[in-house]
Amino acid sequence: MIQTKRENETATLMNEVALGDHIRQRTARIAVIGQGYVGLPLAVALARAGFRATGLDTDPDRVNNLNAGLPHTPDVTGEELLEVRQQGRYAATGDLAVLADSDIVVICVPTPLRKSKDPDISFILAAASAVATHFRSGQMVILESTTYPGTTEEILLPLFATRGARVGENLFLAFSPERIDPANRVYKLQDIPKIVGGVTPACTRLAGLFYRQIVNRIIEVSSPKVAELAKLYENVFRNVNIALANELAIMCRQLRVNTREVIEAAATKPFGFLPFYPGPGTGGHCIPVDPNYLAWKMRLNGYEARFIRLADEINRSMPAYVVDLIAEALNQRSAAPVPQRGPCPYPRRGI
Ligand SMILES: NC(=O)c1ccc[n+]([C@@H]2O[C@H](COP(=O)([O-])OP(=O)(O)OC[C@H]3O[C@@H](n4cnc5c(N)ncnc54)[C@H](O)[C@@H]3O)[C@@H](O)[C@H]2O)c1
Repeated sequence: MIQTKRENETATLMNEVALGDHIRQRTARIAVIGQGYVGLPLAVALARAGFRATGLDTDPDRVNNLNAGLPHTPDVTGEELLEVRQQGRYAATGDLAVLADSDIVVICVPTPLRKSKDPDISFILAAASAVATHFRSGQMVILESTTYPGTTEEILLPLFATRGARVGENLFLAFSPERIDPANRVYKLQDIPKIVGGVTPACTRLAGLFYRQIVNRIIEVSSPKVAELAKLYENVFRNVNIALANELAIMCRQLRVNTREVIEAAATKPFGFLPFYPGPGTGGHCIPVDPNYLAWKMRLNGYEARFIRLADEINRSMPAYVVDLIAEALNQRSAAPVPQRGPCPYPRRGI
C-alpha cells in the first residue's frame, strides 16, 4: 500500500516535471478550443512566444479564414496571423484528433444564457467532452470561458475521472478567466494579470507557469471556484455600478441637474470613487449576461442575489427610457408628435 502511494507520488512528480520542462522550453503542443475574441488572441500570443498552437473551431468558415490569414478580431492583425502561419506555429482546424496530440488544451467557448436567463453551458460541455474522449496521461486542461462557480470541479472533473484521469497526478486541471477587452490599445493580453486556480497545488503551479510565458503577472488563487467567482464579481461590479449611474441619471433629470457634471465632480476624489456613466447599453455582451450565471447558482443555494436582479432590471429598462427621452425631445421641436413607446417603469423626466 505504502509502495503504491510512493509510486503514485513519483509518477505525479514526473508528470509535473515533464510538462513543466515542455512549457519552459516551449515545446509543449497547445490546442485552443474556440477561436473567437478570446481564443484567437490567446493562440496567436502562444504561437508568437514560440509554442505550436492549434486553434480548434466548429465553424468551418472561421477555420478557413484564419488559415488564409484573415482574423476577425481587432486584437490580432492579418500580418501577425500570416507570420505565425508561415512559421508553422499556428493553424486552425475543425479536426478533434489534434486533442490527443496536445499537451495543453485551453477551452474558450461561448457561455450564453438560455431564454429563461439560466446559464447555457452546452458549449463547455461539448468541448470538455471532446477533450475527455481524447484524454491522455500527463495533459493539462484549462477552462477560460466565463461560468458559474463550481463548473470546473463539478462538471469538467467528473468527465475526466470517468476516463481514468486522476487530477493532480496524470491530469492537471485549472480555471483561468479571460479578462481581455477587445480593441483596448492600452491593456492587451500580456498586460492584464491572469488569475489561475487549479484543482490541486500542482495544477495551479503548472497553469501559472504556462501563462507566465505570455502574460506579465500571474495571480495564483486557492481553487478554481475562487477564480470563477473573481471573474463574475468583476462583471457584477461593473453591471451594478452602471445601473447606479443610470439611476443617478434618472434622479438628476428630476432634480434638473447635469448628470455628467455630478459624476465628474465626484470623480475628483482621489480615493474611494470610480466613475461610471449612464447610457442605453452596458458596453459589451458579457456584462449583462455573466451576472446571471452567479444569480442562477445562488438560486440553487436558496439565495436571491438582489443587487444582480436590481441592476439587471434598471439596465434593461434604459433603452426604452432613452427612446422615450428622444421622442419627448423630438416632440418638443416638431409639430407632428412622435408616438410614445409603452409604459416606462421609471419617471420620464429625461437623462
Ligand atoms: N469577448 C470578450 O470580450 C470576452 C472577454 C472575457 C471573457 N469572455 C468569455 O470568453 C468566452 C468566449 O467568448 P468569445 O467572445 O471568444 O466568444 P466568440 O463567440 O467570439 O467565439 C467562440 C468561438 O467558439 C467556437 N465554438 C463553439 N463551440 C465550440 C466547440 N465545441 N468546439 C470548438 N469551437 C467551438 C465558435 O464557433 C466561436 O468561433 C465566453 O465565456 C465569454 O464570456 C469574452
